[in-house]
Order: sequence, then structure tokens, then C-alpha cells
Amino acid sequence: MSGPDPLDVEQVRKDFPALSRLVRNDRPLIYLDSGATSQKPVQVLDAEREFYELHNGAAHRGAHLLSEEGTEIYEGARGKLAAFIGADDREVVFTKSATESINLVAYSLTGSIMPGDEILITESEHHANLVPWQQLAGRTGATLRWFTVLPDGRLDVDPALITDRTKIVALTGQSNVTGVNPPVADITRLAHEAGALVLCDGAQLVPHHPVDVRALDVDFLVFSGHKMLGPLGLGVLYGKYAQLEALPPFLSGGDMIEVVRMEGSTFQPPPARFETGVPPAPLAAGLAAAVDYLTRLGMDNVAAHEESLTAHAIDALLDIPGVRILGPTTTKDRGGAVAFEVDGVHPHDVGQVLDDQGIAVRTGHHCAWPLHRALGVQSSARATFYVYNTHEEVDALAEGVRYAKRFFGV
Ligand code: ALA
Repeated sequence: MSGPDPLDVEQVRKDFPALSRLVRNDRPLIYLDSGATSQKPVQVLDAEREFYELHNGAAHRGAHLLSEEGTEIYEGARGKLAAFIGADDREVVFTKSATESINLVAYSLTGSIMPGDEILITESEHHANLVPWQQLAGRTGATLRWFTVLPDGRLDVDPALITDRTKIVALTGQSNVTGVNPPVADITRLAHEAGALVLCDGAQLVPHHPVDVRALDVDFLVFSGHKMLGPLGLGVLYGKYAQLEALPPFLSGGDMIEVVRMEGSTFQPPPARFETGVPPAPLAAGLAAAVDYLTRLGMDNVAAHEESLTAHAIDALLDIPGVRILGPTTTKDRGGAVAFEVDGVHPHDVGQVLDDQGIAVRTGHHCAWPLHRALGVQSSARATFYVYNTHEEVDALAEGVRYAKRFFGV
């Protein structure tokens, strides 16, 4: 590491009860799987518990005090999320996951896509930002096209793929495998010049970098709360208001309506149009606390801390003979997902040996099968970092990989 760490990581770690666990023969847990889901600080757990203990009423559903409080907490959380990404409150829709947010847009666009239209994605997408577009193409007769990836995992951005037939471009803001940050703002400018909409999958971006939707200028941005210290089960869809307003409802039912008669119904303006069922206000309270937590740390500091861990991990892993990193080997335009393969050891075996030492990494294709295929591998092991990880943990990862090689005799 070159300078002082911008985060007081030892202080941060005290807020995360899970990190003091001893696992697998009393070894300290080394959690390097925050790309799958992050750990939760006590501030988030307290906010959720306080909702149930004191304010448990159905938001937007009653005239009594608890329901009013539930509404205030839920709408207050929307405001915090909006401010966190530089949006207006009415541009933030709560869903159950980033995946549901993408499905919402893909389904709601069905009536606007015609045979011959094109949907442009990339080869580096998580299945959540790939399969819904295949489905949309199947429903509408549109053609799916994609930017391919270069051998280092960066996108081969071929502007010729963006034409007046392109109706939507959907791309990740940060790959969950290679960590690559594609040039989202540049691609968005080209897409808008061609009259296409842009959806950015921010599931791996928003938790780790400062994000300003006005600067990115994307029409839609999706992310999930549980990867940014918040509770599992709450996702976010940001949409420019005019774009949300142009979409028909996705899920329908209680409270998203304006007037209901037996013959038919009319619908609320966004964001209410897209939210039905009793709102998950305790989850929203938890996510608001997570946003407060990250804001207190400062997203620039979060990004700088992770960049330093990522640089360290790349160096330490590349120092091991037979280790190949899937993705760029510098931190330029790259976040902290470090997927790797070890020559002669199956990624699942690497993961198991690491787990025996208390080190949690993800193994497999990480729901990005086409990307693995493009990079010439079936699967990989992947370490991902967050605010509570330390350089000592990175050293332990590298030592664990060396041990796995010795264990399997390669
Ligand atoms: N999408 C999550 C990951 O990459 C689950 O691990």
C-alpha cells in the first residue's frame, strides 16, 4: 500500500458482528465474498429491528400512527437513496432485487419494441442483465446484439453496433468477474445520439464507487441493497422521471392504482406505479442506515480503500506461479472483483481449501457463463473486497492459494 488507508478499517470491523466469528477449526473468518453479498453493520441491524419493535405498521395503508411512521420511514429511505446517487426522490423505485429491477424495465418495454429493433448488451454481463433481454427479444422479435470482450476482459466497444435500430443498450457498470468498469458515460452518449435508451447494471458499482446518475446520464440504473451493507430482499430501480412515466406497470395490485372499477383500472404516477404489495419498510430502514454508514465513511474513501486492496491482491496472486487473473492486471477503470484460476487445481478445490482456512471466496461461473467462455475458462475462484477487508486478509488469500497448490501437488 502506498499511503495511509483512507478508512479506519479496525474501527469499521467492530461494527460487523459476523467478522468476529471463528470458523473451520477456530480460524478467524476472512470474508472475501462481498460481491455476492456484503456483511451488515449493527447500525443496519438496529434500524431494521427498531422498525419492527416500534413502528411496525403498513406504510401507505392506514391513517393510524404506526402506519404514518412506517410511511415516513419508507419514503425517507427513498429520499436517502435518491440523494446517494444524485437523483430525485420520485425517480427511485423499490423492488425486491437488482434482477427484478431489470425485469421490470425489460417487461415494461415489451410494447415499445418491434421486430427488427435491436437490443444491445455485452458479453460481460451477469445473467441478470442478459437473460431478461433474451426474453424481451423472444417476445418481440427484436434482435439481440452484444459488445464482445477483449482477452483482458475489457469491452471491445464497436460503435457500429449502435444504430438507429438500437432501442436499448444494457450494460454493467462493473463486471462481477473481471471488475472492469466499462466506459458507461461514453456508450450512453453514443446510444442517445442514436435515440436508444440505456440501462446500467450498478449492482457491483454503486456499493463501491461514488455514482452520480446525472453525470452518467443513463436512463435506468439498477442496484441491490444487500451488496452495499443493507438487508437482503430490497433492490432499487432508478429511472429518469420521463422514462419511468412512459412505462406501463410491471406488477399490479394494491396501492399502485389511481381508480379501480370492475371494468378496468388507472395507475399512479411513478414511483408508486411500480410498487405493489405492502412496502418492505423495515428493509428500507435498514438500507437507509447502510447509506448513512457509507456516506459517513465517504464513497471516495471506500473506493480508494478497495483500489489499494485490489492492487495488492493482483500483485500477490500474480506472484504465484500458475495463477491467471481473469481481467485487467492494473486497477485502471477496474473495481475490486479479482477472479482467478490456478493451473492444475479446479476452482472448486481452490475454494474448498481456502474455506478450510476460514477464507470465503466464490467459485463457479459467478452467473456470467458467456464471459467465462469468452475468456476461455469454465469457471474461476473470485475474491471481492469491501470496507472491512484488510491487507492482512489479502496476504492470507495469497498464502491460502499457495497452500492449495502444495496440497494438490502442483
Ligand atoms: N451477483 C452476485 C455475485 O456476483 C451474487 O456473486
